[in-house]
Amino acid sequence: MNEGNSLEVQDLKVSYGGIRAVQGISFSVNPGEIVAMIGANGAGKSSTLRAIAGAVPHSGIIRIGGEVVSTIHPEEIVRKGLSLVPEGRGIFANLTIQENLRLGAWTNMEAFDANLGKAFGLFPRLRERRDQMAGTLSGGEQQMLAVGRALMSRSKILLLDEPSMGLAPKLVLEIFAILRDINAAGVTLLIVEQNAVMALRLAHRACLLELGSITLQGTGAELLENPKIREAYLGH
Ligand SMILES: Nc1ncnc2c1ncn2[C@@H]1O[C@H](COP(=O)(O)OP(=O)(O)OP(=O)(O)O)[C@@H](O)[C@H]1O
Ligand SMILES: [Mg+2]
Repeated sequence: MNEGNSLEVQDLKVSYGGIRAVQGISFSVNPGEIVAMIGANGAGKSSTLRAIAGAVPHSGIIRIGGEVVSTIHPEEIVRKGLSLVPEGRGIFANLTIQENLRLGAWTNMEAFDANLGKAFGLFPRLRERRDQMAGTLSGGEQQMLAVGRALMSRSKILLLDEPSMGLAPKLVLEIFAILRDINAAGVTLLIVEQNAVMALRLAHRACLLELGSITLQGTGAELLENPKIREAYLGH
């Protein structure tokens, strides 16, 4: 696996006006790995992903492929191969599918045609609807577009914030299957999910975030077996 695909987070802190949402967490995602972060509403999951992508002020050290990126601009982080698929999807409603995908490719226009082919290969529904305004897509189609767009920048590391949110069970399965394929093609994944069972089944390793701190870490299988997780997320 390409060492450039690793992500290391050391003592990450995020505060909003004096309120600390992320309390100095440390974790890593190895090249080619899928790591899931689960936790209750308000635990600080989205804040963690946004901080790694450079989208909110934070302290701590973030390394991509061993290189410290915590002080560079968000655009530079995208150039280093890290993309965030934000909660709520963050697509441009008044642009077509193809225009949204083109925007996602700005760091990598020379590979535009090849990557467009790949995105349409993963999501045939987007190909059929390439000239449709993104705002008129169904929720599931918008999620496909958000993932497809992140891949246009030839991401080595994808951060996904609640990829299954608002999707019907069948589409959740579809999205998770595609995430597995994306990972199998060599992309490192850090996934935040409310759907703990799906995420823990998919992930190689996982952590539980509570009130801005990591309180449990292990393999996906270990967390699935953990009594505390079973109680909180599986109801038994
Ligand atoms: N821009 C902001 N300004 C002020 N407080 C914020 C801001 N963004 C997040 N917070 C607060 O930080 C805490 C962590 O929020 P965050 O969105 O990271 O949680 P989360 O784990 O992603 O929750 P959810 O599962 O509901 O998406 C919450 O208490 C939230 O109210
Ligand atoms: Mg969130």
